[in-house]
Amino acid sequence: MQKAIQFLDTHNERFLEELFQLLRIKSVSTDDKYKDEVIKAAQEVRNRLEEAGADHCEVMPTAGHPVVYADKIIDEKLPTVVVYGHYDVQPADPVELWDTDPFDPQIRKTDIHPDGAIFARGSADDKGQMFMHVKAFEAMMKTNSLPCNVKFMIEGEEEVGSPSLPVFLTENKEKLAGDVILISDTGLLSLEQPSITTGLRGMSYVEVTVTGPNRDLHSGLYGGSVANPINILSQLIADLHDDDNHINIPGFYDDVEEVSPDERQAIAKSPFDEDQYKKELGIEAVWGEKGYSTQERSSIRPSLDCNGIWGGYTQPGAKTIIPSKAHAKISMRLVPGQDPYAITELIGNHLRNVAPDYVKIEVNYLHGGIPYVCPIDTPEYKAAANAMKVSFQKEPIPLRSGGSIPIVALFEQTLKMKSVLLGFGLNSDAIHSPNEHFGLRNFKIGQETICRFYEHYAGLKKQ
Ligand code: BES
Ligand code: MN
Ligand code: MN
Repeated sequence: MQKAIQFLDTHNERFLEELFQLLRIKSVSTDDKYKDEVIKAAQEVRNRLEEAGADHCEVMPTAGHPVVYADKIIDEKLPTVVVYGHYDVQPADPVELWDTDPFDPQIRKTDIHPDGAIFARGSADDKGQMFMHVKAFEAMMKTNSLPCNVKFMIEGEEEVGSPSLPVFLTENKEKLAGDVILISDTGLLSLEQPSITTGLRGMSYVEVTVTGPNRDLHSGLYGGSVANPINILSQLIADLHDDDNHINIPGFYDDVEEVSPDERQAIAKSPFDEDQYKKELGIEAVWGEKGYSTQERSSIRPSLDCNGIWGGYTQPGAKTIIPSKAHAKISMRLVPGQDPYAITELIGNHLRNVAPDYVKIEVNYLHGGIPYVCPIDTPEYKAAANAMKVSFQKEPIPLRSGGSIPIVALFEQTLKMKSVLLGFGLNSDAIHSPNEHFGLRNFKIGQETICRFYEHYAGLKKQ
C-alpha cells in the first residue's frame, strides 16, 4: 500500500489538473439547458476511469441523465467494493455572490484551509470527492496493489433526487452485485478530529399552491373583502411550527425512533463550538426544537423548511393587486422510523384541513427519500475506522449527518448492500452555496484513506 500512497504524492499535480478539467464542465442536473454538459461530464469520468485501468467503462443511458459504470474484477473469489458518487452539481446561482467564476476552479487559502482549497461548484459535492476514488483506484492499479474487486457507479441525477436510479438498480442488479457500497459524499468533523457518517436523514419534498380569486384583483376595489392567497400561505407556513418549534402536523412524530441516551451522550461529547458556529453563519442566536442541542436538531431530529415562496408582483416598482395564487416549496428532513410517503400524506391532509374555505389548496409531491442508519459493528465500518486512524493518527468518531442521499436506503432494499459513508468534506465547504470549496489537504488525505480502506477491508474479509 505504501507504493500506492507514494504514487498519489508523485502525481498530485496532474490529479488536480484533471479534477479542474472536470470542474469546468457545467453539469447542472436540474436545468435542461445543461443537458449536453451533463453528458460531457459523464464521458469525462468514463475516460478517466479507463485511463486509471478499469474495464467495461460505459456511459449507460437512463430515462434521465446517464450513469457511468466501470469495474475491475481481479478475482471472483475476492470481495467486491461498489463505489458510488455523483458527477452532477447544483446550480451556481446566485452567481454574483461568487468571488470567482464557479466553473473556473481557483486555489485560494482560507483560515480553515491554510494550505489552500479548490473553489468551484462541485469541488466538494461531489466531483472532488468522487474523483478521489478514481485516483485512489489509479494509484492501486498502477502499483499492483488493488487487494479486491471494484465496481464504479457514478450517477448524474443525485442533486435532483435520483429519479432514474430505482429502475436502473432493478435492471442492473447482477452487474452491480457486490459486498459493500463505498461513498464519499459527506463530511468530517475536522481534519483534527475525523468522523464517519453513520446516518442520513430522509426527505419529503412538496410544492404547495394556494388559490384565491380566479384572477389577480385590484387591491383597492377588493382589498379587505377577498382573502389574499399570499397572506394565507404565509400564515399556514408560520403555523407549521409551534411555540416550542415542534413541527405542528398531527402524527408527524408518531414513528420517530428516539435515539438512545448513550448515543445522545456521544453527540454531546463530540467537539462542537456553538459560538464559532454562530459567528461563521453571521447569526446572533441559534433556533430549533425545544429539548435538543444544535447538533441533535440537525441530525437525529426531523426538520421542516420552506425553501422558496413566490406569487403576486415581484418586478421593480409597485403594482397594487390581490394575487390569484401563492406558491411555496417545503422540504421535511426525516429520521429513522419516518416514511416519506406517509409524511407526505400527513402534511397534505393537514394543510387541506386547516386551510380556510376562502382558498383552495393543492399539495404536490416532488421527491423523497428514506432515512438511513449505518451499523458500526461490520467489517466495512471497521475498515473505514482503521483506515482513518492511520491517515489522521486519531480514532474517528461515528456521527449522524443531517443531509440526505436518498439512494443509500435503496441500495440496501434493492441490492441488499450496506453503505459506508467515508466523506472528507467540511461543513464550512459551502456546498450548494456561493464559493463552494474543497480543501487540498482533504482531497489528498481522502485519496490516501480510500487506498487504506481497501487494504483493511480485504484483510478483514479474509479472516
Ligand atoms: N452530498 C449531499 C448530501 C450530504 C452532504 C450529506 C453533506 C451529508 C453531508 C448530496 O449531494 C445532497 O445535496 N443531497 C440532497 C438530497 C436531495 C437533492 C434529494 C440534500 O441533502 O439536500
Ligand atoms: Mn452530494
Ligand atoms: Mn448536494
